[in-house]
Amino acid sequence: MWTVTDPARERLAIDGGAPVRSRPLPTGFLGMRLIGDEERAEVLAVLEGRSLSRFSGMTPPSRVNDFERELCRRLGCRYAVAVTSGTAALETALIGLGIGPGDEVIMPALNFISSPEAVLRLGAVPVFAEADTGFGLDPDDVVARLTPRTRAIMPVHIHGAACRIDALVDIARRHGLRLLENGAWSCGAQFHGQAVGTFGDAGMHSFHGVKVITAGEGGVVITNDPLVYERAARYHDHGNFRLPSIPKSMASPEEGTPMAPALEPFLGAAFRMPELSGAVALAQVRKLDEVLRRTRRAQRIILDGLRPLADGHPSPPFALRDVPDPEGDCGIAVGVILPTADRARAFQAALRAEGIAIGLVYGGKPVYDTPVLRELRPGWTNGAPLLRAAGPSYAGSLCPRTEDLMARSLMLSVTPEYVDEDARDVVHAFTKVAAALG
Ligand SMILES: Cc1ncc(COP(=O)(O)O)c(C=O)c1O
Repeated sequence: MWTVTDPARERLAIDGGAPVRSRPLPTGFLGMRLIGDEERAEVLAVLEGRSLSRFSGMTPPSRVNDFERELCRRLGCRYAVAVTSGTAALETALIGLGIGPGDEVIMPALNFISSPEAVLRLGAVPVFAEADTGFGLDPDDVVARLTPRTRAIMPVHIHGAACRIDALVDIARRHGLRLLENGAWSCGAQFHGQAVGTFGDAGMHSFHGVKVITAGEGGVVITNDPLVYERAARYHDHGNFRLPSIPKSMASPEEGTPMAPALEPFLGAAFRMPELSGAVALAQVRKLDEVLRRTRRAQRIILDGLRPLADGHPSPPFALRDVPDPEGDCGIAVGVILPTADRARAFQAALRAEGIAIGLVYGGKPVYDTPVLRELRPGWTNGAPLLRAAGPSYAGSLCPRTEDLMARSLMLSVTPEYVDEDARDVVHAFTKVAAALG
């Protein structure tokens, strides 16, 4: 006979039992869920001031400037350049670092298409390396993929948690490489007390609608290096440097005397963040701590409930994602690793039937496993190749360990609207499914 008090003995919903959840979990969307009067007031102020463009508003000063300063203060970095998307931020940061045709950039295969896209658009060459069980770039495999053409390392702090950035900083220093941290999914995450994005020569975040905080679309380059800042600021605005001078630090401009811009103009892009987006981003960065407070609380309940299953069992049904610094995790996701791909799919189906919408990490496939990258398809039609430099082949199994890991890893999104009961339902469903399938 089934009891309601012991989840381990309940009949699975996929087999006709009652599902744990009758209402969907509040998955997906983070800062977006907290949009309210603050965003409305900032947006209205921009409209009322008829100041929709950062450098051409009728009533300066600009909300985008305010956002950059506020973000620098919050993250503890010196400079920020707000742009139109996280993808634009990657491209702008790469130019900030001087990366160009033929330069090899090592990045994890567990990634989003934006990372290789930005590199390839500059004529540089993505080199894919293995991910570790924290879903971050594996430092040992980075070393194995170095060549005389390697110019930069581009790790990703995926789904709210820092990768092993200390080891990657060390490799970059030892080999004279630039380090660009992709923090698209991890604004506010820390590694042992320091904000991600501030370890390397540059970092970036995305403010797309699904990210930790949002401007609908948007991104930012952050750096502590005034030269990288000026190069990035020029690139995002047609090569211009329209800011009067480089402050010693945006976070505390009173800190020192301005430094004169040092560079001649160069070919740029038009990636300026619109003032309406800057208004939303400004209100959202002020809510970053509230978003993290809520997601971390819910994530802690879930992890505390799953840990005994993952650790205590004689043959554990799954392992938890091995986050290098759990304290600094944004709390926006829970990752689990199943023993096999078949088991992962069975778990996913059973959990979904219980009302827990869980998915394979980035669809369960490495980023290079798309025709666009396998065949290096450019957007132009004149027959010129996408890459002029001789690069690695993108055919075959480039990162077999990552292929295996991604096929058997599931990720649940945790949002600021989770209440404790939602988090406990997740634990309940996992306990039930693990008992039946584990
Ligand atoms: C790892 C990673 N990098 C970059 C981006 C690009 O951000 P955006 O959508 O703002 O261009 C994303 C978006 O999801 C991402 O997941």
